[in-house]
Amino acid sequence: MSFKIKLILSHIIVVLIVIVFSFIFSDIYVRQNFVRIIIGMGPNIEVMLTPQGIRFLETVRQTLLISGLISIGIGALLAFLLSSFALRPLKEMQKFVRKISKGEFEERVHIKSNDEIGELASSLNYMAARLTDIENMRKTLVQNVSHDLRTPVASIKGYMELIEDESFTKEEKERAIEVIKDEIERMERMLRDISKLSAIDSKNFTLHTDRIELNTLIKNSVDLLRMEAEKKGLQLKLELSQGNIFIEGDSKRITEVMGNLITNAIKFTDQGCITIKTLTAKSEAKIIVEDTGIGIDKKDLPHIFERFYKGDTSRSSDGTGIGLTIVKELIHAHKGTVEVESEKGRGSRFTITLPVVS
Ligand SMILES: Nc1ncnc2c1ncn2[C@@H]1O[C@H](COP(=O)(O)OP(=O)(O)OP(=O)(O)O)[C@@H](O)[C@H]1O
Ligand SMILES: [Mg+2]
Repeated sequence: MSFKIKLILSHIIVVLIVIVFSFIFSDIYVRQNFVRIIIGMGPNIEVMLTPQGIRFLETVRQTLLISGLISIGIGALLAFLLSSFALRPLKEMQKFVRKISKGEFEERVHIKSNDEIGELASSLNYMAARLTDIENMRKTLVQNVSHDLRTPVASIKGYMELIEDESFTKEEKERAIEVIKDEIERMERMLRDISKLSAIDSKNFTLHTDRIELNTLIKNSVDLLRMEAEKKGLQLKLELSQGNIFIEGDSKRITEVMGNLITNAIKFTDQGCITIKTLTAKSEAKIIVEDTGIGIDKKDLPHIFERFYKGDTSRSSDGTGIGLTIVKELIHAHKGTVEVESEKGRGSRFTITLPVVS
């Protein structure tokens, strides 16, 4: 039985109950008052009524019956109209859900009432917006992964052919093997980053937090990349705050964050230095990674933390555009924030803020 029929039936049942009760009650009440007023005797006294009296009571009953039937008719009609009106938003939502299940995520419900139905409609719209985001993310992921895999795969294929070709020298073949190794490493790195990001996205992602001393952790994570910076002729400077800074954090994840920021600084800096600072202000700890590199274009700045977003420099083609997304997600998981300031041609500064513990 449809909800509409149930609604109409419930209206009719209410009208029926009202009619039956008023019928019984007024029959008794009119009979008693008829005896009291017309014949002039007290209540609860049985009297023989004259034929006119009986006819009068009959007329009262008939009037009640007719007015009852008319009420049922009008009630049913009103119930039909009201239920159609009340169910219209539900019908619209039903249509909307069908469209969403077909993948039409840009669909929205247009109901603006300030009641439970309005709240349900705005929740559905929120759900549709989230689904649109997820769908866009999925599309971008497929596009980027296929695009970023195509280049190394084509390059590996080309060099493999070179190795098989007898006319190339041993040195040339060894060089080709080196290039193939590099390309495979690049693909490995990319796949590792993607699976890292999907692990962070998953519901089961948890941090293994401890009370950790930030300065020691930062020093250790900077040391891991010192060689790489020096290979490029860049100086890695450490300016740690005096005293200890304690935070509640996952040391492995914070090391990963530092790795991503410093790797970026090295990648996007040709000369000068990279400075890593820590400081405390009020109940916050700040970690700053500063470089004297190529800087970030104004148009790129608002997007660099988005998934797969890469600036359009030649060296960006090296990466997947995931590094800063991982940084942002991990820092947010630590209840912290990450901000960037940059000027094209002058360098960039990334500032992480984390809550300290005593
Ligand atoms: N220190 C920096 N200096 C200049 N540009 C930067 C710096 N850090 C990030 N960017 C810009 O932000 C973009 C996004 O950075 P992100 O680390 O997310 O990706 P990526 O380094 O290109 O690739 P991946 O980190 O996945 O290997 C980069 O492509 C680059 O354009
Ligand atoms: Mg990066």
